[in-house]
Amino acid sequence: MTHNLLWEIVPQKGDGLKDSYPMFFDFNFKVDLKKLQDEYINYWEPLVKKDPYYKRDISYTPFFKRYTDQEDYHDNLLADNFIPESETGFLNDKFRQYQLFTRRPGTKGKHLWDWTYPKDSFYGTYIEELLNLFKSPVIRPRFSYARPGCNPGYHIDYDNPKRYAFRIHLPIFTNDNMIMSFENNSKIIDLHMKKGIFYFTNISFNHNIFNGGNTERIQLVFDLMSDIDFPDDQILKWLYILKLYIH
Ligand SMILES: [Fe+2]
Repeated sequence: MTHNLLWEIVPQKGDGLKDSYPMFFDFNFKVDLKKLQDEYINYWEPLVKKDPYYKRDISYTPFFKRYTDQEDYHDNLLADNFIPESETGFLNDKFRQYQLFTRRPGTKGKHLWDWTYPKDSFYGTYIEELLNLFKSPVIRPRFSYARPGCNPGYHIDYDNPKRYAFRIHLPIFTNDNMIMSFENNSKIIDLHMKKGIFYFTNISFNHNIFNGGNTERIQLVFDLMSDIDFPDDQILKWLYILKLYIH
């Protein structure tokens, strides 16, 4: 079965095309930020630091390939934990990710939707509880680290949410100068995501992040297979949002 067919059997609200969704919006879910931060510091961080990759300055994600060659991008998801280093080294040492899920047994991890298998360390955590707030199946939750100065450049992760997924962010630690910027028709919209709030971001549009502060940004990032958790009024409101946030 192809993943395109899978999309049809996972219940959806909208048509899954990028123009049908706003650039971003926040979900009205209650998150206990203190509990989340405490769990990160006391439970997750020691685990992350045990990973042999942690000691290396890896950070590579081939953003430019995401746009031009999806298959190449997915090859780079094969590492269980951190995304592996690459010859091309488009990014420097300012960005890395730690995976909380791994590939479903029997899949090759080539497609994002293969990444739906929680590691043992995930069960019984507050993060598990938080992800259970979503009715949609969750794909590839990971910690995303952006160091001061991180500025990977504009890129598009998936050209089509229907074929890939809907990206959600939950900042755990951030600073006031951490921004995500979106571009459409040469207009730039900046978003500062607040700690303890879930955001949908439409990464099928050109976007970039910039950490202009002096602390590391740590957030949970994941994808949803479906838009069923989206509030009805956030579908087909693209132009409305654009007008609101334009500057
Ligand atoms: Fe991106």
